[in-house]
Parts: sequence; C-alpha cells; structure tokens
Amino acid sequence: MDTTQNLTMNKPVGETRLDRGVQNVLGKGVDRYEGPLKVSGQATYAYEHKVGQRVAYGYIVTSGIGSGKIKRIDTMAALSTAGVLHVVTDTKTAPRASADPSDPAPTPINGEITHFGQPVAMVVAETFEIARDAAKLVEIEVEPREGRYSIFRERENAIDPGKQTMDSNTLKGNFPKAFEEAEVTFDATYTTPSQSSSAMEPHAAIAEWTDGKLTLHGCYQLVSTNVQQLAKALGISTKDVRIIVPYVGGGFGSKLGIGPESVFASMAAREIGRPVKVALTRQQVYQATSRRSDTIQRVRLGARRDGTITAIAHDTITTNTPGDDFFEPAGISTVFLYAGENRQVTHRKADVNILLSSSMRAPGEAVGMLALENAMDEMAEKLDLDPIEFRRRNEPKEDPQTGLPFSSRRLVECMQVGAERFGWSQRNKVPAQRREGEWLIGMGMASASRKNMTQQSSARVTLLSNGTALIETDMTDIGTGTYTILQQIAGEMLGLPLDKIAVTLGDSALPSASGSGGSWGANSSGSSVYAACQGIVEALAKKLGVSADDLTLKDGTAIGANRQVPLHELLAGEPIAVTGTFKPGSTSNNTHQASYGAHFCEVAVNAVTGETRVRRLLTVATAGRILNEKTATSQCYGGQIFGIGTALTEELVVDERTGLMVNHDLAEYHVPVNADVPDLDVLILEDRDAAASPLAGKGIGELAIAGVGAAITNAIYNACGVRVRDYPMTLDKVL
Ligand code: MOS
Repeated sequence: MDTTQNLTMNKPVGETRLDRGVQNVLGKGVDRYEGPLKVSGQATYAYEHKVGQRVAYGYIVTSGIGSGKIKRIDTMAALSTAGVLHVVTDTKTAPRASADPSDPAPTPINGEITHFGQPVAMVVAETFEIARDAAKLVEIEVEPREGRYSIFRERENAIDPGKQTMDSNTLKGNFPKAFEEAEVTFDATYTTPSQSSSAMEPHAAIAEWTDGKLTLHGCYQLVSTNVQQLAKALGISTKDVRIIVPYVGGGFGSKLGIGPESVFASMAAREIGRPVKVALTRQQVYQATSRRSDTIQRVRLGARRDGTITAIAHDTITTNTPGDDFFEPAGISTVFLYAGENRQVTHRKADVNILLSSSMRAPGEAVGMLALENAMDEMAEKLDLDPIEFRRRNEPKEDPQTGLPFSSRRLVECMQVGAERFGWSQRNKVPAQRREGEWLIGMGMASASRKNMTQQSSARVTLLSNGTALIETDMTDIGTGTYTILQQIAGEMLGLPLDKIAVTLGDSALPSASGSGGSWGANSSGSSVYAACQGIVEALAKKLGVSADDLTLKDGTAIGANRQVPLHELLAGEPIAVTGTFKPGSTSNNTHQASYGAHFCEVAVNAVTGETRVRRLLTVATAGRILNEKTATSQCYGGQIFGIGTALTEELVVDERTGLMVNHDLAEYHVPVNADVPDLDVLILEDRDAAASPLAGKGIGELAIAGVGAAITNAIYNACGVRVRDYPMTLDKVL
C-alpha cells in the first residue's frame, strides 16, 4: 500500500498520540545515533565520497582586487602544465559567491569583480597539487575600479532595499512626535562588524555526469532549493540534477545556498567527461561563500517616568554587494518584543565591494538584539528600574504591531525563573561594586526571542513487512540531530523502539523537505513524519478492525479490540508506505509565533588588562514541545557560545584599501574556544504551542543566540561601569 497524507495547520492541534507517550521515546535526551560514526571518521562528508578511479581535482582561482572588470583570462600557461585537464573561465555561468537562499540561482560573474577573493576561474587537473600549482599561472587581466569598502563611508548612500526576509520598514503611530514628547528618552547607536559562519567543514563538492544527468555530492542545508539553484545555474532541468548530502559539517547559514564549488565542479565535470571534486581552502571559505553584514543600529526609546514605553525605534544600516538585496534584519525582534504605541523599525542597505552578505546564525536577532537589549539595559538605568522589572512593565498582551494574538509567549516567566536560579538578587544595582583582586565582577541579563517559522515539508515513512520502519526525505542533518529526532517521532507514533527505525536523509531523489534553516527544520520535517505516521496508524487500525483512537501501538505490536498482534503479523507480508506532507497553513498568519527565553550572565573584567572572562551563563528557554532534550540543550549551548563570540571576539576585519578580509582563517577569526566557555547552564521549560505545528513545537536552534551577547555586555557594564556600543567588546575598548 502506497498513499499520501496531507496535514495543513489551519487550527491549533488538540491532544495527539504524541501526548499519550505510550512508547515513551519522544522528548527523551537520547544520543544522536550517528554520533559515533562522526567521531570515528565513518560518516562520509561531501569531499569523501568514492566516485570511481578517474576523479579529477579542481582548484578555484580568485580575484586579487576588490572591484573591476575582467578584460581577459589567459589560461595558456596553466593549460600547458603537465596533468592539467581544463580551466573553467565561463563567467556567464560561474558564480561569484554562494547563492542567497532566496535567489533562484547564484549571481554569475559576468565579467565583473565585485569583491576581493571572488571566484574567477577554476583549474582542473589529475591531482589537487597540480591544480593548485597551475592556478597560480592563470593570468587575469582586470580593469580596476574604485572600490567601496566601508559601511561608515557608505552609510549616507544606503537605500531602502524593499521587502526581503521581512518588510524593510515597519511603522505604527507617530514615532517622531511621541519620542519628542516622552518624559524620559534614550538615543544611542551601536555597531556590529561583518562575521563569518565559520563552519568546521569547508565547502566542498563532487560532480559526476552520467547520460546527461548530474549527481552532486555536496554539503548544503536546503537540498530542494539547492537542486533548483544548481539546475538554473547550469541551464538544465531540475529532473536532471540529484544532490546527495548525508552529513554536513556545520552550516550556520553559509550552506543555505548553492556555492561556487558546486557550479564550478559541475561545469568542469561536464566538460571533461570525468567526475570532478573541489574543496574551498579555508581562506576561500571566508572570502567566497557568504558573511553576516556589518551593521550600524540606532535605537531610540521614549518612556513615561513609570517605565511605560511610548515610543520605540530601531533603524539599521547594513551592507551587501551591488545588486544583492538581502539585508540583515536587525530590527526583527523590536517589531514585537515590547509594548509601545508608536513604533518605527527600518532597514537600509549600502552597496560595498565586500563578499555577499546573507543569513548567518539567527539572522537579525543575533546582532539586532545586541543593540535592543543593550539599550533596554541603559534605559532601565535611566529610569532607575531593575532591568527585569522594566521589561515586565512593557510586556505586550498581543503583537503590538499587528494586534495578532501570540500563539504562546512566556518571556516574563523565563526572566523570573532565570532570576531565581541565577541569583539575580545578588546583583549590585550600581556598577563596579564587586571586586576580587584585579577582577571586577558583574551580572547582566537580556531577553531572548526568535521568530518561529515553519515550511512545507514531506517525508515518506514505510512500515516494512518485518515490522520495522524506514523514514526517507531529502531533509538534512547539519549536526543538529535530525536523524535522531525523526526516529523519535516515528517511534512514538508507531510504537517502535528506535533501533527498529532506519532514516535516510539528504537525497534529492526522496520527498522534498523544508531543509535546515531558520530554526524551522525539526518542527517542519518532524511534522511531515508525524503526518506520514498518522496515515500508517489509520491503515493499521483498519487492519485490526478498530478506530485509530482505539489503537495502541507499543513495542512493535498493535493493541486493540482485546487483541495484541505483532506488527509483522498484522501486515501479513504487505508493507505500508505513506508520504506525509506538512503545510504551515493559516495558523502562521493569524497568530504571532515566536520562541522566548531569558539569558543571565556573570563576567569578570580585569581592571588592569581589560580582559573579560565569562564566568557563568544561564539560558531559560521556551520553544513548545522539545523533541529531544539533549539535542535541544546542545543547540542552546551552541547559541550561548555564539553569543560569547558576538559579544567578545568575532569580527571580520576588512582592509579598507582593497576589500581583503585580513583575518580569513580560524587562527585569526576568533570563535570562542573551550578556554573561553565556562560551565553553561540551560533550562528548557516544559511547553506546548498548539498553533505552531502538530508537534506543538517551535524553533529552538537560533533562540539561544538571540540576546545572549547583550546579557554579556550588560554584565560587563555592571562589572566595571564601561558601556561599549561597538561590538565585539575587545579589551582595548573596555580599557
Ligand atoms: Mo540559518 S542562518 O537559516 O542556517
């Protein structure tokens, strides 16, 4: 039997089989079952797939200037090197950076140099070493142009980018007037630098053509979208493209869109009639994929003396390469997080000749809440209110912009629970009061919120005649635990122990999933598995002669009508396959959905050197039903660590003469390492959001990064009385 089961979220769900918890596997903190494969080198990553003996190697040639027009590419010397097979120079097809996930295809080079380190050509040779060597012999003749490399110099030229991931302008009431008339006002500007996703696995691909059809082994987050982008770039039908991605060594946004490695490898493999493999060097990962935009953010707050916000504005300038419209939606939380009759959130984009800016680790909130939550702390002090009390007084009853009801929102509770657990009452209201030798100690807090998104997603679940199950979908696991949580959902639905469920992911030949991005992956793809299993439950109920409600499934048996039958007997040699599709439906339009939390931080700031050590971090989070306590908690640890990075260390330094990213490797671009990370504390409250999905879950992956950096910098202020509004807060700025 092979059927389909559609599930559209048009109303909140009631109690489901998941709530009965008969198999008792959903939500449990079980280990990721593919974990041992990864740490023992048995999980196959993009560059490692075996594709026959005659694989050729590509090496991408990049631009050594930041802006100009390509006059000529001379490949003579490279091509006459022994072992060189081909040089790709087709600038109408080859891309100049990774694609933005919302773009139909990556932008072709088209003879234009728009940023330093931009891919220009690719040498293909018998070995990696020959290709790398010959790449130095490719001569690119360029007519240079004056480049634009500074957000500060270009800020006056910033324009309204229009609607992208969100509206660039969200206005309500009359902000200027209300701000003018407010009893207490606050107005400050914050800056954040460009950042790099810095995933561990460099972007890599192997392309192989068979009878005009392309198979690509890659490392991407959104397989279905990536198939469309690659097909479009190559000018072929999506039917002729298959992308295979069983494992991804971290993405953090930089692998949302198809990258230059895949387009170049596919072009070269088609040309030479052999499989071609390419990995970007670490420097190329930094300079040829995508970055988070730098920002200039002005936050203005107007309030009555009792702390009621009457006017709130968040105006952001971001950057991108000319012709690319994505803007960092830094004001995304300011739209709904706090009450206030008069509101203004705007975004402007300035063109610069620096790598494409795109989504990275909680795009918007991650840097936007650095500004907003810092400003809330500063305003609380002006009003002589505790930062938690100031936020509580501005808790909106409904979305303050649209009036839509919140599907669920427990921000105040997260702050209160966190305050108790962290010992917030020990905090000194006045900064620089607590000293231990050279170290000044302080505490800070911030809200966390991340807009909840769901996407259409499909998966096929087959209950095989031996009573075991198979889940198949092109969904990806980027290290987040997808394999395991899909097992847990199917295990709970079908009453099967987890070792009786196999999962195949990341193959575009399988049903099309939401992919991993925007914290929608677990909820969306999990809901498709739920839908498919629901179809199987109904089929089994029919076989047993009971209603689905009266059917209990446990430990591989069906129980109902006073019988208990092993599944393989009930199936009698007939497997049941159901393709389930989840669609977001109208609940995503008629409720405002977000995940919420609160961060608490204790830092020590060295009075002599200005060095900051994060001593304690606590995040209290609510995100609907938790599918796996361990993987969800790990996501929060990751968010906290990214927060330490945004607050203290992460910054792409651009040479403003050439557009070169000076610190283009993991030695110089500082992500927090073990020595920077204290014992982390995460508390996820039991929660359900019936409007968000049939799982009653919401996104958690990016929630913990939202706001955590501000909790750290607020703690720095409390420790030493220095308020720095220019991130990252390195010691030179604190001194
Ligand atoms: Mo996320 S920045 O959508 O990978």
